[in-house]
Amino acid sequence: MFSKRIRDVQPSGTVMLANKVKQMKNQGIDVISFTLGEPDFPTPEHIIDAAKQALDDGMTHYVQSTGIPPLREAVAAHVTNKNGIKAASDNILILPTKFALYGTIQALVDPGDEVIHPDPGWVSYGPMIELAGGVPVPVRMRYKDSWVWEPEDIASKVTDRTKAIILNTPSNPTGSIISADTLKAIGDIAEDHDLRIISDEIYENLVYEDTHFSIGSIERIRDRVITISGFSKSYAMTGWRVGWMVADKETVKMVNKLQQHSLTCLPAFVQMGALAALREGDECVRTMKEEFRARRNMVIPMLNEIDGVSCEMPRGAFYAFFRTDLGIPSMELADMLLQKAHVSLTPGSAFGTAGESYMRMSYAASRDELTEGIGRIARFISSLKG
Ligand SMILES: Cc1ncc(COP(=O)(O)O)c(C=O)c1O
Repeated sequence: MFSKRIRDVQPSGTVMLANKVKQMKNQGIDVISFTLGEPDFPTPEHIIDAAKQALDDGMTHYVQSTGIPPLREAVAAHVTNKNGIKAASDNILILPTKFALYGTIQALVDPGDEVIHPDPGWVSYGPMIELAGGVPVPVRMRYKDSWVWEPEDIASKVTDRTKAIILNTPSNPTGSIISADTLKAIGDIAEDHDLRIISDEIYENLVYEDTHFSIGSIERIRDRVITISGFSKSYAMTGWRVGWMVADKETVKMVNKLQQHSLTCLPAFVQMGALAALREGDECVRTMKEEFRARRNMVIPMLNEIDGVSCEMPRGAFYAFFRTDLGIPSMELADMLLQKAHVSLTPGSAFGTAGESYMRMSYAASRDELTEGIGRIARFISSLKG
């Protein structure tokens, strides 16, 4: 009854877990959830006001599938100034970030083509590659003092069928950053083997110690790189479903074909909200980032105090990716924590085999919830250790 393509693909583990938590909460159970990756702040008021105004102004009809011209222009100026990626309006496509990744993979990958992606890495890369008939090729990150993605490990997985490399910096789930030198080395690999690079930079504004470096700013490889980012995590706009893709004009045209035949366009009032976000400047982004930094600095030492838990200080995003020495499969541990301690975490195995001994905790939650939740985790782990 259903296509093989859709039957074979796994449902999103993170979305399923979130649904389970909602179900428990509806039953009156006091569950603390650290699973979903979204800021707990409201969307800043000036963004909401701009969208409301657009509705009052009658912006309720179809608009250009590529995005409204002023938003494309604003994003082009933004990525040129902030990311150092030289872009004009026709290098920009406005679409939900997740759909930008999906659409790019659809546009590049033929059945049997291989796409390299990080392990541990975001849960949707593999399924998206499979939905295009491609073959996901996870390349393990190594844990030294922190998680690193070694260019030689990537190079060793390149074959005649490799089409693209997906990279993600800062990384979900590890919170690690790929250094500019490593990005340059990955760029060299792409050049040597004629590959495209899909750079997922959705957490670019949540970088705590370093300066964010965009691989698309390397002039030599600019046309190989498709940079994808958006408003969700930086401006607390996850529900607005608006982001962008920066690429050469031909790639923009190809992915836009998919947009035309599926979403048509993003709602105009949503795009007007997004435009206000860029026009108003980054102050709200910086305020939220400072709060995330403070929570990170509070949460990581608390986790490390738990006997049998170790967690590196993440340099970006809002996830603590911690290791336990319990020897319990991470999926089982997540289930036990949910059922017995009423705390919801994402099992590391959801992000690939390299994540097996880890749990991901989103610290985009209030300080009270973080304190109470970590207390529950500590008591539960200590009860297991007896
Ligand atoms: C690494 C990564 N890329 C892309 C996305 C998708 O972002 P959006 O929800 O804005 O489509 C997410 C969302 O969690 C993410 O963690």
